[in-house]
Amino acid sequence: MKNVLLITGPAGDAQGWGDMAVTQEIADAINASGKQAEIAFVSSLKELDTALDSHKFDLIWSALYHVSEKSETIGMSDGDDNWLADIFDARDLPYIGPDAATMKALIHKTTTHGIMDRAGVPVPYHYQIEAGQALPDIALPAFVKPSYESRSVGISDNSVVNTPEELAAQVAFIHETYDQPALVEEYLPGQEYTVLMLGNGEFQEFLPGKVMVDPSLFGDYPILRSDLRGVGATKIKPVNSLTEESIEVTRKAMEALNCLDHVRADMRLDSAGHLKIIEVNGIPGLKPIKSWSPQIYTLHHPSDQGPMEDYRRLIDHIVSSALARYNLT
Ligand SMILES: Nc1ncnc2c1ncn2[C@@H]1O[C@H](COP(=O)(O)OP(=O)(O)OP(=O)(O)O)[C@@H](O)[C@H]1O
Ligand SMILES: [Mg+2]
Repeated sequence: MKNVLLITGPAGDAQGWGDMAVTQEIADAINASGKQAEIAFVSSLKELDTALDSHKFDLIWSALYHVSEKSETIGMSDGDDNWLADIFDARDLPYIGPDAATMKALIHKTTTHGIMDRAGVPVPYHYQIEAGQALPDIALPAFVKPSYESRSVGISDNSVVNTPEELAAQVAFIHETYDQPALVEEYLPGQEYTVLMLGNGEFQEFLPGKVMVDPSLFGDYPILRSDLRGVGATKIKPVNSLTEESIEVTRKAMEALNCLDHVRADMRLDSAGHLKIIEVNGIPGLKPIKSWSPQIYTLHHPSDQGPMEDYRRLIDHIVSSALARYNLT
């Protein structure tokens, strides 16, 4: 029987698929699929080393990009020695998800944009602004956000800036509050979509979804503010006419970024109605039924037994596809 070691920690929710409760749900799903799961909760590199030494496993699946004690924000790591994928590579261990270089590129939104841009994937115009740096002379409105966060941390209606003064104020807010560069992007006013890349090779599927929010929950702009995340406010619906275009841009992005196993691309329509990718998530959320991956999976592969059974199949698809990639089946 195959054993999967699930790794999470204080940062599981901010960085990756979710907190300890979500990790337990993933373990239950793996255990129900004829495989076995164990959980290691790590707050430090030492605890990670101990966990890797003391568990027996065939495959690792980590909720963490880098080891951190922060539970609210991601940030970049303090050093280059605490990225999980680097540690797994150094020990030659098989793991689910992209390699270390890709994980680092995905956390750093400007790097992600640059790689996609060079590969011909449509992205918004973007400027990474360090503290003290002069502001660019750009077409407004623009969108201002932290460079390395998730779950819409730092995003409110103030993120849409219409004047140079608003731009300066929001950039300063990001620097002061999150201690990281601000990312200033083209504001994409149109509908939001998300496309899940599931599995690799013959196991690979691209599953698109339209991100719907009750319009009465929006304030001045139709954007996913931080207070709309993790509260069940978003529902994933069929994409219809943009299905092929959304899959095509995602396929190109995933190839350019060298993504594996379970990665999600978020995108929106620009003012001319063209899709542009705003970010790519290397460890998408996996809260049963609620997170976008399970919702998308149920949209495309509903079973007679309901969404919890769909969730188990989603988890098994990810695990089985990764095992096959390492010739471990
Ligand atoms: N350039 C943009 N124009 C319009 N809205 C945007 C733009 N960038 C981000 N948003 C809005 O802010 C939300 C969060 O942005 P983004 O996906 O970049 O960050 P995130 O916090 O990393 O998200 P996730 O939780 O998916 O990792 C998006 O879902 C979207 O609604
Ligand atoms: Mg997003």
